[in-house]
Amino acid sequence: MKNIQLDITKASQFLSEDAIAAFEPQVKAAQEALENGTCPGNDFLGWLHLPSSITKEFINELNATAQVIRENCEVVVVAGIGGSYLGARAVIEALSNSFQWLLNDKKNPVILFAGNNIGEDYLAELSDYLKDKKFGVINISKSGTTTETALAFRLLKKQCEDQRGKEEAKKVIVAITDAKKGAARTTADKEGYKSFIIPDNVGGRFSVLTPVGLLPIAIAGFDIEQLVAGATDMEKATAPEVPFLENPSAVYAACRNALYQSGKKIEILVNYQPKLHFMNEWWKQLYGESEGKDGKGIFPAAVDFTTDLHSMGQWIQEGERTIFETVISVESSNHTLLFPSDEENLDGLNFLAGKRIDEVNKMAELGTQLAHVDGGVPNMRLSVPTLNEYYLGQIIYFFEKACGISGNLLGVNTFNQPGVEAYKKNMFALLNKPGYEKESEAIRARLNK
Ligand code: PA5
Repeated sequence: MKNIQLDITKASQFLSEDAIAAFEPQVKAAQEALENGTCPGNDFLGWLHLPSSITKEFINELNATAQVIRENCEVVVVAGIGGSYLGARAVIEALSNSFQWLLNDKKNPVILFAGNNIGEDYLAELSDYLKDKKFGVINISKSGTTTETALAFRLLKKQCEDQRGKEEAKKVIVAITDAKKGAARTTADKEGYKSFIIPDNVGGRFSVLTPVGLLPIAIAGFDIEQLVAGATDMEKATAPEVPFLENPSAVYAACRNALYQSGKKIEILVNYQPKLHFMNEWWKQLYGESEGKDGKGIFPAAVDFTTDLHSMGQWIQEGERTIFETVISVESSNHTLLFPSDEENLDGLNFLAGKRIDEVNKMAELGTQLAHVDGGVPNMRLSVPTLNEYYLGQIIYFFEKACGISGNLLGVNTFNQPGVEAYKKNMFALLNKPGYEKESEAIRARLNK
């Protein structure tokens, strides 16, 4: 089967001739550091050979649990945030019907997401929607103490028990968490929920190919074996023994770092398929949390085209020249729909009548690429044959591997996220969390100045 392909010709034209090749020794060293576990954050390298280590038995166990949930629920709420949320949503939305939640689909449960915000209206409206529904809950938190997720789970657990009774609720609540520690583990053990473990050596944003992503994706009705197969093939295609210029993750990591060093501080991930919106969000977290530290890092931004060409297009074409784009281009649509003819032709679009709509989209994509390159925006292009589980698996591992290499090239610890604690500390101080007395006093004095 064909792999996803990276084309950097419209980015490298902005760089000196040998700029990419010059990265080869550093990329090699970065790959060795990942393989040998000598890089910073080396206790979080469990994702590196994860795809090829997933067994058929494990897939079967996940599918069996998914089947129980599918048979007993018309709605499933996946509670999680950040790395415990975005991967599953990215894959589910990329593969689902765009109007899935409006279809009266008797085969597949509606998948909803919670625990990723503290919106009172969101949670109240969710609870209202669930009132007359047979729903289940997948509670995902590695630490088991994340406020957003714990809050949603408190509400959902109670509502599920109230509606189904405590014993029945146990059958449709699943925990995905640490093997030993955290409130989610304690509750799961106490209540006797089915649970899956998030390995210690896999950080949240690299965890989509653990039960964190695999279980919700299987519950939504998608083929997780194919997802893992795609990731495994990409693990092979990006292995250290693959020559530098044939390794798409190595080339992507080198190109984005060469562009960064030449003053391009912002990378915009672009898609032309609305279904890929959450793939953008997953990618933003992967790169933002991995690289944005020590006063360094490419700012990961994302747009959905052609929608955002009508909003952000002006900035991208003519704003400050500190950006580059990486476009995910899907070669074939899964449906066929032709541009309609219209007798009156008031909009003057009959010249397109009979063409595939995807052909029009592709010309928008090509036209935009040429315009943006003319406007001084380097462009990389990741071609994906079609949107299915297999290629989504390839995309996921391609970006993960590139991120591991890229963080090393940048000289940061790719696998920690010390900066995310700052807001939590202030929030807990403001909310008078026990143990935060000194911080509470200090923050109040600061606000009363
Ligand atoms: O990538 C990360 O580490 C974070 O985004 C976490 O996944 C996120 O904060 C959720 O944490 P937890 O799974 O502990 O609830």
